[in-house]
Amino acid sequence: MTESDEHVSVTVRVPAKVNVQLAVGPARLDGFHDLANVFLAVGLYDEVTAAPAEKLRITCEGPDAGLVPLDRTNLAARAAEALAERYGRTPDVHLHITKDIPVAGGMAGGSADGAAALVACDALWGTGASRDVLLEICAELGSDVPFSLVGGAALGTGRGERLTALEVGGTFHWVFATAARGLSTPAVFREFDRLGEGVDIPAPVASRPVLDALAKGDAAALAVAVSNDLQPAALSLFPELADTLAAGRAAGALTGLVSGSGPTTAFLAADANAAAEIAAVLRASGTCASARVAEAPAAGAGAAGATAVA
Ligand code: C5P
Repeated sequence: MTESDEHVSVTVRVPAKVNVQLAVGPARLDGFHDLANVFLAVGLYDEVTAAPAEKLRITCEGPDAGLVPLDRTNLAARAAEALAERYGRTPDVHLHITKDIPVAGGMAGGSADGAAALVACDALWGTGASRDVLLEICAELGSDVPFSLVGGAALGTGRGERLTALEVGGTFHWVFATAARGLSTPAVFREFDRLGEGVDIPAPVASRPVLDALAKGDAAALAVAVSNDLQPAALSLFPELADTLAAGRAAGALTGLVSGSGPTTAFLAADANAAAEIAAVLRASGTCASARVAEAPAAGAGAAGATAVA
């Protein structure tokens, strides 16, 4: 495939994530927070298709497409620009996003599109960027973007961008309840700071019980071990989420927690049947906009196919 071949497009599929541990330290001088962030990629996917174009253009389809920015604030656009700049070319690409990951939901949907666009443009342009270069660009784009590239499970330290791959010993069954409105990640971190004023916040450390439960594929043990330091801040900004958490737990979830900075809530189920049942109860509960089942772990951003267009 070459950049002069105008009849080729590349489609990359990329998963959402849930944090099974999100330990947040005090605010740093640069405004970010040090994290011990245990990411788990889950089987809800966006797809990004890159095709040659006169100039950089973004389009989006899907039920929440209207909520997705189509300008250069979209991480997919910034990924194309960053790769083009690094290799001294113009970002003349049409990026089409097929959106299935909740928007502004705490599931790294925007980060996912950034990682997918990077992989798609690299393939379309024949850039041949190494994995390390791609990871470096991902880290410049945002704290969660490197994980969207690698998928599986990983411990993120620093602001979440420094990854160590983690072993996962089985399949975990999740239910994700989406909310009728989004939450801004910076706003949730600001609320975390406000709630923690005057409190001595310790340095974040990865939880051994979380890592062990992942390695064993033990859902019951993981349910006891999960934690999210951003949950009180998300609940403070979006108190109705407490009702969703209560509804999912009452429906038989092993545990329920806010996903990342929210407002999507995540419920761990004992098996696929339990997940389907919890999702049905949540849908009928009136406490969420939708409820989706998904398995974890899922693979990171990867080619969904290079398609010759006639
Ligand atoms: O890195 P990213 O652009 O995704 O971060 C979005 C915002 O979330 C940051 O501007 C910051 O307000 C907050 N954040 C943080 N500490 C982190 C990651 C994100 O405070 N480790």
